Amino acid sequence: MKKISLVTGGGSGIGRATSIKLSTRENHVIVADIDEEGAAETVSRIKAAGGDASATKADVSDELSVAALMQTVAKAGRIDTLVNCAGILQNGSRVEDMDLAEHDRIWNVNYRGTYLCCRAFGPVMAEYGVGSIVNIGSIAGFEMFPLPAYSPSKAAIHQLTKVLAGDLGPRGVRVNAVAPGFVMTEALKARVEAGERDTSVMEEQKTLRRIVEPDEIADAILFLCSNAARAITGATLPVDNGWLAGLAYNSYAGNKKN
Ligand SMILES: NC(=O)c1ccc[n+]([C@@H]2O[C@H](COP(=O)([O-])OP(=O)(O)OC[C@H]3O[C@@H](n4cnc5c(N)ncnc54)[C@H](O)[C@@H]3O)[C@@H](O)[C@H]2O)c1
Repeated sequence: MKKISLVTGGGSGIGRATSIKLSTRENHVIVADIDEEGAAETVSRIKAAGGDASATKADVSDELSVAALMQTVAKAGRIDTLVNCAGILQNGSRVEDMDLAEHDRIWNVNYRGTYLCCRAFGPVMAEYGVGSIVNIGSIAGFEMFPLPAYSPSKAAIHQLTKVLAGDLGPRGVRVNAVAPGFVMTEALKARVEAGERDTSVMEEQKTLRRIVEPDEIADAILFLCSNAARAITGATLPVDNGWLAGLAYNSYAGNKKN
């Protein structure tokens, strides 16, 4: 029987790379995005490569939209994999300067969107007694950047991942997260072009001295979804070219070799 995967935010960046890698003749990928055109473009790339996918419009922050997404997925019969890639970045800000409407929008998409989708599809997987969910956290969820809405929203996703792992594990469903660090997606490119991020600083801070590609996050997501990760649940895996590992190392006050 064909497997069914749902990727939210599949119309761009990490979600697109993941949709493309997940899709095979045996795995139908439902690409859900608030950006209908982006989702359709992902599907046409998948089909051109011989894969199997369909596009659907969904706003993950909206309960009714997620309920409609459940109907779409129910038509496919079941769901084996859910990857929650829908998310929005933010620019640096002081806490007191952060626009509250923007604060709430970021939380609504990043945290609430992830919560609503896990809440909707986790129990469906549990009914079948099998399934895997991968959430997208961030290095910004481990270490706080001057991003007063984004960083805490990602820390909350890391913790939610553990809550869900405990909740759904006994019913056969694994829940993990990846924590990307500076990935050259459309969202990051736009910020670099607007002067909000500096690529040389990002490269310098990484132990491996380069920015992560969307495909490299997709590879980690595919691993966590796969049978090779059958004993892993509740984990948040940094995929950051060593940004987290280098934090303390690079701030050492004594002599170091590089
Ligand atoms: N790019 C990075 O450096 C980086 C680093 C760490 C974490 N992340 C996380 O990775 C995820 C994907 O980011 P990306 O860089 O690929 O961004 P992106 O903008 O390229 O892709 C995000 C997609 O989510 C969709 N989306 C936004 N709001 C939505 C909503 N309400 N409902 C449904 N879809 C919605 C967008 O339309 C877009 O297609 C986000 O959660 C982001 O926080 C990215």
